[in-house]
Amino acid sequence: MKLNNITPDPISSEKKKSNSFEESKRESKLVVLQSIGYPFLCNLMENPKIDIFDKELFELYAREQWEGYTVNEGLFLFDQKLLPDFAFKIVKAHPDNSRITKNTSILLMEVQESREIKRIESKIMMEDVIGQERAKTKCKIIMKYLQEPEIFGDWAPRNVLFHGAPGTGKTMLAKSLSNELKIPLFLVKATSLIGEHVGDGARQIHDLFEMASGSSPSVIFIDEIDAIGLDRRYQSLRGDVSEVVNALLTELDGINPNQGVVTIGATNNPPLLDQALRSRFEEEIEFLLPEEGERLAILELYSASIPIEVDVDLKKLASVTSGFSGRDIKERVLKVALHKALSDDEDVLVWKHIEYALKHHKKDKKDPKGMYA
Ligand SMILES: Nc1ncnc2c1ncn2[C@@H]1O[C@H](COP(=O)(O)OP(=O)(O)OP(=O)(O)O)[C@@H](O)[C@H]1O
Ligand SMILES: [Mg+2]
Repeated sequence: MKLNNITPDPISSEKKKSNSFEESKRESKLVVLQSIGYPFLCNLMENPKIDIFDKELFELYAREQWEGYTVNEGLFLFDQKLLPDFAFKIVKAHPDNSRITKNTSILLMEVQESREIKRIESKIMMEDVIGQERAKTKCKIIMKYLQEPEIFGDWAPRNVLFHGAPGTGKTMLAKSLSNELKIPLFLVKATSLIGEHVGDGARQIHDLFEMASGSSPSVIFIDEIDAIGLDRRYQSLRGDVSEVVNALLTELDGINPNQGVVTIGATNNPPLLDQALRSRFEEEIEFLLPEEGERLAILELYSASIPIEVDVDLKKLASVTSGFSGRDIKERVLKVALHKALSDDEDVLVWKHIEYALKHHKKDKKDPKGMYA
């Protein structure tokens, strides 16, 4: 038997390069990959779960085998070393249709990371956010900037802090901003940026800003920013938090005003923020609890989508819900009342269902920790 008949196909590695439409001359600044798996499976092989042990080593490994490749978003790169033919999807190439060089940053989205840094798509419109006029005005400026960054020069909006009582529309407004502009919103909970190991948090922040600038125009929304932006007096209580704050300060300063990235931080508790971090936000916008007229508008907005008939005096309800947030009105009043009506097998939501919800809300408020603590 002549084994040497089986010669390696000289074109196969060329074929692998053919993910490009044409060889690009532009240099890729950033490539974000997502591990997909083998093109097919047989009994002998399983799709391995790719977990990055060292991001810098992975980058070297990736550059070494794919240097010179042209990358286009949505297409694939195939591993040729450790896991031959294992596929990686190109989720982001910046700029698109560019060529990987020694300087290209290559990131692999970890399963965990993609959960933490969520690219949100939403259908919420800005007019659905009732009240919060100052915040909406700022968002309109941000929208203008993201559409035409050139006209703002050095005067671009960059970092804004939303603060105020829970459930008043901070996250909702940020989502509406990205929806109206059809741009990506990178939403991250600050607590998820504190890594398990020293260095994790700082790197996650770096990756977050890199991803956002790679997808610009874009908005980064850091929720519960007080969790990492803790005042230095408290930082010693929280291990690597100061390293995370420093990373955040560096990134906030590093964003070029013409880059089209706006960072919105949100907190219920601004005085807890580190002073240096707090001063990076050009504007602090307070989200207020809705006034009576706004409560009525919120009630009208949400009761319209209740799946059964609603026969309730909404004006009266607006007048008795002073101190309620938008979230309280939707979740604790309307939703609880609807569930009560449904559980009683009734097809019209009436005042007695509302009374049931209000009674329970009042009780929960009085004793928020519950009787079991
Ligand atoms: N001003 C508002 N107009 C309309 N709906 C609102 C408003 N505020 C809150 N809601 C309703 O409450 C929900 C929760 O609001 P949201 O998540 O934006 O609050 P938040 O200010 O981010 O709260 P937290 O500080 O707890 O994160 C919204 O999805 C929306 O259904
Ligand atoms: Mg929120």
